[in-house]
Amino acid sequence: MIVLIVIALCILILYFYNIRTFTYWKVRGVKYVKPVLFFGTYTDMYLQKKSRSQIAEETYRKFPNEKVVGVFKSTIPELVIRDSNLIKRILINDFPSFYSRGLNHTNDVEIIRKHLFAIDGDLWRMLRQRMTPAFTSGKLKAMFPLIVERCEKLQSRTLSAVTSSHALDARELMARYTTDFIGACGFGVDSDSLNDENSAFRKLGVKIFNISLRDSIVLVIRDVFPYSEKYLKLLKRIEPDILLLVKNILTERNYKPCGRNDFIDLMLEYLNKPMEAESIEKVGENPIHVKMILNEGLFAAQVFVFFVAGFETSASSTSYTLHLLAFYPEVQKRVQADIDRILAKHDNKLSYEAVKEMTYLEWTFKEGLRMFPSLGFLMRRSTRKYKFEDINLDIDKGVNIVIPVQALHMDAKYWDDPDEFRPERFHPENFGATQKMVYFPFGEGPRNCIGSRLGLMQSMAGLAAILSKFTVEPAPETVRYPQISPKSNIIQSITGGLPLMFRERKQV
Ligand code: HEM
Repeated sequence: MIVLIVIALCILILYFYNIRTFTYWKVRGVKYVKPVLFFGTYTDMYLQKKSRSQIAEETYRKFPNEKVVGVFKSTIPELVIRDSNLIKRILINDFPSFYSRGLNHTNDVEIIRKHLFAIDGDLWRMLRQRMTPAFTSGKLKAMFPLIVERCEKLQSRTLSAVTSSHALDARELMARYTTDFIGACGFGVDSDSLNDENSAFRKLGVKIFNISLRDSIVLVIRDVFPYSEKYLKLLKRIEPDILLLVKNILTERNYKPCGRNDFIDLMLEYLNKPMEAESIEKVGENPIHVKMILNEGLFAAQVFVFFVAGFETSASSTSYTLHLLAFYPEVQKRVQADIDRILAKHDNKLSYEAVKEMTYLEWTFKEGLRMFPSLGFLMRRSTRKYKFEDINLDIDKGVNIVIPVQALHMDAKYWDDPDEFRPERFHPENFGATQKMVYFPFGEGPRNCIGSRLGLMQSMAGLAAILSKFTVEPAPETVRYPQISPKSNIIQSITGGLPLMFRERKQV
């Protein structure tokens, strides 16, 4: 009997603990999606039926007349922002109140989660300042010969597949190209992902994005009980691989820059030295400065994020652009003509200068990113109490913010015929202030993508390499509107890949 009472009491406590936040939006007069126990409004995400980006898009469409919509990530109140002025406030003007992505609850979890994308506050600011010099256009230009080398390998791998006259998975092909490039440019490791079927780097890339059922369960528990995080090691399966990889590279270089000017060299200059920045967390009349040492763990975490962010985003966007081009042969002809004309001017050689001149290719890639942004939504979390003056709404510290990028990119309010693939939208005469306010393939504000220039150039070079030699067409097994993987919760991916036919172009 006592046991039964204790069980009943536990269930009751759990129930009330779970629903404690569920009136959050109601009392504030915000329209909201009705939550359920444990999952909040994200049942389909936790059960791996829909991605977080798809859920954000559904919410956006369901409430066409609202500026904001309330949802619940498990028990955490979350606000989906539909209005472009409010988005600007959050991402740019009032950034000090939204500098967090809300990814780390306790800040003392796995070493490799202490990377630029996941961390918050002063540690983020110090690392962001420290890493920014690695991404200048000068550094990018210096790296470019390494990109060109990978482009040549990309062409020969594609050619060998063409002769076998089978469809080729564009997603896998581009992931191998970007993995190879990031390995070489970022870490001085010749991973040879393009040729070696069993490349350790490519295997690691696949392992990182392979979300298991265990991971999904861990995510629910972590969201329901945030303080359980330190016991639920989410990235446990890959942490040893990353730490070993970094340790090997450091040992090889004898813990000193070797003159390759890659990320490792740049960070090695600062290893075990203090980083300093003006505090974003503590605000007072006089600026407060904070200091921290860049130790080996933090170092490895940044290597990890550059690897992940550097290959998966570009692979997802370039392969989807190829998929769209296969269904728009007229656009493909135009982009090939643009590439051919500029290559002819540059001695038929890919170079930094040549790729920079390929304006139509740039519009084409940007249009691909509009229709399928690598990150379907942006996240922020309120870091203090905040008032949205325009709609007279007060929120507390710790509320999640979702900017539904995929939905904004496909809203007919901002884009004519949004389902049409039309690179001319990015002609400066057509791409006006209205579109700028809702186009976020690389995010916006102080926490935007640090590698946007590198990502753009790496992607354009890869596309130019393919399209200068090959034409893509749908294969019998190509699905016109491919399914977004319900497991892809940060970087969007496609279930079953993107099979395409690659035909060799006749050179005139
Ligand atoms: C086409 C390629 C790429 C796309 C579409 C892309 C997109 C994005 C987006 C949307 C964000 C979030 C921005 C925000 O919340 O406002 C982001 C953040 C980030 N990206 Fe990229 N990215 C790309 C390539 C790269 C590359 C090549 C690197 C580095 C090697 C990189 C490193 C990062 C990092 C470290 C962050 C976190 C920045 C911070 O929180 O301060 N990205 N990226």
